[in-house]
Parts: sequence; C-alpha cells; structure tokens
Amino acid sequence: MGLVDYRYWGKRDTKLILPTNSSLSVTLDQDHLRSTTTSRADPKFEKDRLWLNGKEEDIKEGGRMATCIREMKRLRREVEEKSPNEPKLSEMNVHICSHNNFPTAAGLASSASGFAALVSSLAALYSLPASPSTLSLIARQGSGSACRSLFGGFVAWEMGSKPDGSDSLAIQVAPREHWPDIHALICVVSDDKKGTSSTSGMQRTVETSTLLEKRIKVVVPERMKVISKAILEKDFDTFARVTMQDSNQFHAVALDTDPPIFYMNDVSRSIIALVTEYNRVSVAAGGKLKAAYTYDAGPNAVIYAPKENLKEIVELIVHYFPQADGFKDAFGLFGSGGAKGKVVE
Ligand code: ADP
Ligand code: DP6
Ligand code: CO
Repeated sequence: MGLVDYRYWGKRDTKLILPTNSSLSVTLDQDHLRSTTTSRADPKFEKDRLWLNGKEEDIKEGGRMATCIREMKRLRREVEEKSPNEPKLSEMNVHICSHNNFPTAAGLASSASGFAALVSSLAALYSLPASPSTLSLIARQGSGSACRSLFGGFVAWEMGSKPDGSDSLAIQVAPREHWPDIHALICVVSDDKKGTSSTSGMQRTVETSTLLEKRIKVVVPERMKVISKAILEKDFDTFARVTMQDSNQFHAVALDTDPPIFYMNDVSRSIIALVTEYNRVSVAAGGKLKAAYTYDAGPNAVIYAPKENLKEIVELIVHYFPQADGFKDAFGLFGSGGAKGKVVE
C-alpha cells in the first residue's frame, strides 16, 4: 500500500482519472498493512465478480472496477495474439477476491492498496510482461492513488499533459532499500468509514476552493522537486518539513471547500501538536526535525521518523494516547488504557 507525503487532490479528467497535480508517496512494507487479492479465470464463470472483505460488491458497468478488468483483459489479448498457444483467458470471466487487513475507506489509502493489488493479481494471472509503469496507467483508472502503489519505495505520479492520459503514470523515485532508515508509524485514530469519499471530496474542492488554484499551479510543482531531491539525498529535515507542510495545505484546501470537509478530528490535531512540540525541543537544542506527521483523507496519522527516534515517539504517543486494546510493537513496548485508537509500526 502507499501512503502519501505529497498529495493528489483534484482531477482534471474524472473519467480517465487525470490529476490536477503530480504527487508522491511512500509505499509501506506489506508485512503490516496490505490488501491480499486473488483472481481466477474460468470458462464456466458467467460474469466478472468481486468479493471485498468477504462481501460481494457490484461491478458497475462502465465503473472503475469494470474499466480496470477490461484494460487488463486487453493486455492479455495482446499476449494471446502474439502466442496463439496461450489459453484464451481474455475471453473468460474472472472472479476476484480481496481482503484488506486494515480499515477500508477510513483514510488509510485502501483504494490505492486495493486497486494496485487487483492489477498485480490480474497481471500475474495473465502472465503479462507489462512494466509497473504500464500497469500504473490501468491502476490509475481504478483509483488515482493506486498508480503509485505498484513499485515499492518512493514513487511519483507524474500528472502528464496528454488528454488521453497516456503520460499520466507513476515512476519510482527510489527503491525502499535506498532509505531503509525511514520508518512509518500509523496511528489509527478511528477506523470508521469516512463521511466524504476521496472521489467526491476532491471533486467538490475542484469546484469550489479558491485556494486550490495556487496550490496546484505554484506550490506543488516547486515542492515536488524539493521532496524528490530530499529523498535522493536522504535529507530527513527537508523531507519532514515539506511532508508536514503539504499535509497541512491539503487539509486547508479541504476546509476551503464548500461545504467544508473536515478529515482530521481533535485527536488528529493533538498528535500534530505533540509532534510539533517534539520537533521544537530538538531544534531548540540545536538538533534537527525528528519526526513528520502526515494525514490522508481521514483522521489517522502517519508519523515518519528515522529508526533511532521511533522508540521515543512510540513512548510519547502511548503516554498521551493510551491504547484501548493494549499494544506491543517491534520494540517490545506495551501500552494499555481506555482511549480508542491503535498504533501500528
Ligand atoms: P481510502 O482512504 O481508504 O482510500 P477511498 O474513499 O479513496 O478511501 O476508497 C475506498 C474504496 O476503495 C472502497 O469503498 C472500495 O470501493 C475501494 N477498495 C478498497 N479496498 C479495496 C480492495 N482491496 N479491492 C478493491 N477495491 C477496494
Ligand atoms: C488524500 O486515489 O482515493 O489520499 O482517484 O477518486 O479514487 P480516487 O481518489 P483517491 O484519492 C487519494 C487522495 C489522498 C492523497 C493521495 O493519495 O495522494
Ligand atoms: Co483512496
């Protein structure tokens, strides 16, 4: 799955899912949060079907899921045309079964993880020779953010300029191994389904926000360069500063939407205050930024930090936000208490 530190929020083409700005995300290791998707083609299947988290979902004609399946079958047909002995899987219906081991539609990028897993699963079923960037063109049409989640590591979605979307694809800025020292701490503030989906929220922002224009024309192009360079140079200070600025600006344009969209809640804002204070103390003592928060379209926090700071950060979070279910992390830390919320590293 991918979690973002430079945000996509706005489409210039809602059907093809072409964004108003480029974006960048960090792909989380699949050991913790993941979508597991299996697919099967069979001549006996009467139609394409999808089960998500154990429940059958309708595949709407002309909808995003149908588009992804159709496009994957098109790539399979190309393989079959070149190698006539290959079974004609492109002519069979598919059954797809997917499960997220983290909250769906709660602002933890389930659509990114889910559509990336879907495209990967069909690419494996169809033995496609396609590169991740080619597959990203298809994942993008399922959910924009999904195009960045096929590579691992640090991935940019280049907005492109062609009306057919053929240059609106993802590229890997750096693999995970490039900067293994960076860790992500996910603080699940609420696993409820969000009130405003990303799709409808960003559409309303495009239609009503006056701040968005400045963001997409002036702010993002410059910051994309800065953050890519920071990643390549493993410059955590710059990475952290820009990540927090971008999260804040994204939530500012959400608030500038009419009617306004509030994705963060009081707990989200308290976590911002805590990270800000933690960084302030470090900088006041002549040090650098030690952690960066970022919030997707939901109340849940992602905290990026170099490994050496993680233990301290987990202790701070668990101290100020006691864990409902108890919590044991990779460092053997344990928290318990009454508040709702979960921390995952
Ligand atoms: P999120 O913040 O979780 O990405 P979105 O509103 O963007 O929330 O998208 C949620 C939608 O993504 C779900 O309602 C579902 O349609 C789709 N989705 C989530 N997980 C999967 C999955 N594993 N496979 C296919 N589609 C998925
Ligand atoms: C806030 O990709 O979920 O997570 O393209 O309509 O499916 P659709 O929206 P989606 O939007 C993600 C928005 C975001 C930021 C990001 O992922 O860059
Ligand atoms: Co999403």
